Amino acid sequence: MQCVTCSAPVNIAVIKYWGKRDETLILPANSSVSVTLHQDQLQAQTSVAASCHFEKDRIWLNGQEQSIDNPRIQNVIKEIKRRARKQKAGNRDNAAEKLNWKIHICSKNNFPTAAGLASSAAGYACLVYALQCLYQIDGDITAIARRGSGSACRSVHGGFVMWDKGQKHDGTDSIARQIQPHTHWSDLRVLILVVNEQKKHTGSTEGMQVTMETSELLKERIQSLPNKTEQITQAICDRDFKTFAEITMKDSNQMHACCLDTYPPISYLTDVSRRIIQLVHCFNRKYQEVKVGYTFDAGPNACLFLLKKDVQKFLHLVKHFFPPTREDKDFIRGNTAELMETESDDSEEDLSYFPFDPMDDSLKYIIYTMPGPGPQELPSDQSLLDEDGLPRKRS
Ligand code: DP6
Repeated sequence: MQCVTCSAPVNIAVIKYWGKRDETLILPANSSVSVTLHQDQLQAQTSVAASCHFEKDRIWLNGQEQSIDNPRIQNVIKEIKRRARKQKAGNRDNAAEKLNWKIHICSKNNFPTAAGLASSAAGYACLVYALQCLYQIDGDITAIARRGSGSACRSVHGGFVMWDKGQKHDGTDSIARQIQPHTHWSDLRVLILVVNEQKKHTGSTEGMQVTMETSELLKERIQSLPNKTEQITQAICDRDFKTFAEITMKDSNQMHACCLDTYPPISYLTDVSRRIIQLVHCFNRKYQEVKVGYTFDAGPNACLFLLKKDVQKFLHLVKHFFPPTREDKDFIRGNTAELMETESDDSEEDLSYFPFDPMDDSLKYIIYTMPGPGPQELPSDQSLLDEDGLPRKRS
């Protein structure tokens, strides 16, 4: 049996992918830009084993066996094997033989799926990266990750990433590339406000399909995006926070406007999301400077960008306006060590400037994180599969 274990990050788009030009190949209607988040806080881990003794391909996700017949998983495996065969043509070694063995896949996230954070991007990026390591494939794998979930292709790189929509019908030029590594902008920070909500919302695959079919506004959005994409790329390269945050907020607002323009309409934002938006604008207005930017995916959770020096001040407000009703020491998670270091007395705000009442218990928790690196291969002692290729039982 041969086994590899890898980890991969979550990414959050600042220019959103919303709409496909090809549903089967998962080709987007527009190019998108994202920030890869640090794996210390959010990551998928996947082990893939191949053995001549396995009877069939199998997959376990977060402890549960799932059907391997999911077409997206099948496409990913098929594409990886096709690439491996091409690269190993004429090579009669064990690597080529391994391609005929059945595989076992075991994957888990280090964050609750219930958090409503894009787990499929990290999951598919991790699966493709692990298969690449197992079969020792060279070259771009983002086009293969894209076949699992569009946004997954951006999680194959760390830092700041652009997914080029591409022009070709076969999608071979619809790939993601790194704009800058995560170390490029060392004081950029991210707060994820996980909203307390039971409701299940329309999935992104289905949502973007109906928007593509019915929204006039989306057509205009697609026309105007190349300009914005170029501007935000430049803002990232220049570490120009104001331009970066403004474009991020406007693009999120525009994507959600297209969702409302969908027929029947789709709304992902809730009263809590809208209050977060209000708080950010109020805060920026108070300081007459863009200090915080927000973006929302296909759900109510807010992803906020800000600089390290402003985190304490803004967090103080968040805790005041979205308090947990009971004392909760896990309310703020992630890189809390850094928060201790930067704690200061001047984080107190004049609350009278913010004309609204607190919304008790509206947030589940807050994750404090930052941009981070791409997928990594992990040492074999971190394998999720045991010597028989079955999920390892944790004591
Ligand atoms: C709102 O990548 O989940 O998060 O390609 O159908 O799997 P499929 O969709 P998915 O869509 C992500 C949509 C988004 C915006 C983004 O990440 O760019």
